[in-house]
Amino acid sequence: MSTAPASSAEALLRVEQVSAGYGLMPVLHGLSIEVRAAEIVALVGSNGAGKTTLLRVLSRLLPCTGTLRFNRQDLAAMTPDQAFGHGLVQVPEGRQLFDRMTVQDNLLMGAFRRHDKAAVARDLQRMYQLFPRLGERRRQLAGSMSGGEQQMCAMARALMAAPVLMMIDEMSLGLAPVIVDQLTEVLAEIRKNGVTVLLVEQDVQVALGAADRAYVIENGRVTLAGPARQLIDDPAVQQAYLGV
Ligand SMILES: Nc1ncnc2c1ncn2[C@@H]1O[C@H](COP(=O)(O)OP(=O)(O)OP(=O)(O)O)[C@@H](O)[C@H]1O
Ligand SMILES: [Mg+2]
Repeated sequence: MSTAPASSAEALLRVEQVSAGYGLMPVLHGLSIEVRAAEIVALVGSNGAGKTTLLRVLSRLLPCTGTLRFNRQDLAAMTPDQAFGHGLVQVPEGRQLFDRMTVQDNLLMGAFRRHDKAAVARDLQRMYQLFPRLGERRRQLAGSMSGGEQQMCAMARALMAAPVLMMIDEMSLGLAPVIVDQLTEVLAEIRKNGVTVLLVEQDVQVALGAADRAYVIENGRVTLAGPARQLIDDPAVQQAYLGV
């Protein structure tokens, strides 16, 4: 369903000078980021910085000005459905599962656009290997699962769409550290299979531990960017976000 990956010459996702907001209230002010194929990139920043707003822009749920390129195509010209069809898939803040459906049916909902039934069945088994807990609970109603299990289900549902770029909003929110570690390992695993990840996190420690590179967003602008390892040691990051 997805087109060929971007050449090394152009990033998979390029956001340039993007501004967006709600009604007359501006939130993003000429923000620019890049995500290269098979990278894990984190967006960090405090409450209200505009992280979720940027993901809404990328999913084409919110209009913007500026340049949006995805896989060498004009993302700004796409509808949400077209963006999804090109492999831009979001795990939304709050997970938003179908609570009254089973885990398995939630996962199959993720694959609703795919027609190759054998490939979908294979991917379903792969999800149960990636998340053994989901395999054990495949017949359980999604709404009755724990927070960590629900996040696994939301991530697996997104993966069932065969994403090129998976965007995750607040992966670790409200979850125990041991679960967050498991989810971080899953990110590394899916990247090995060629899925690119854009991770939005309020927990800077988690974000910088999981990502190759990160952007710090403040008031709708990028204020710092670089390799995650370098940002962990940055005094400004340590003081503002790591409580050092
Ligand atoms: N639907 C909306 N209508 C009006 N204003 C909104 C709407 N959604 C978000 N905002 C405002 O836009 C700004 C950025 O919000 P956004 O949700 O993007 O922040 P965030 O970085 O994701 O924060 P958090 O870490 O708390 O999730 C905030 O000031 C917020 O109040
Ligand atoms: Mg948010």
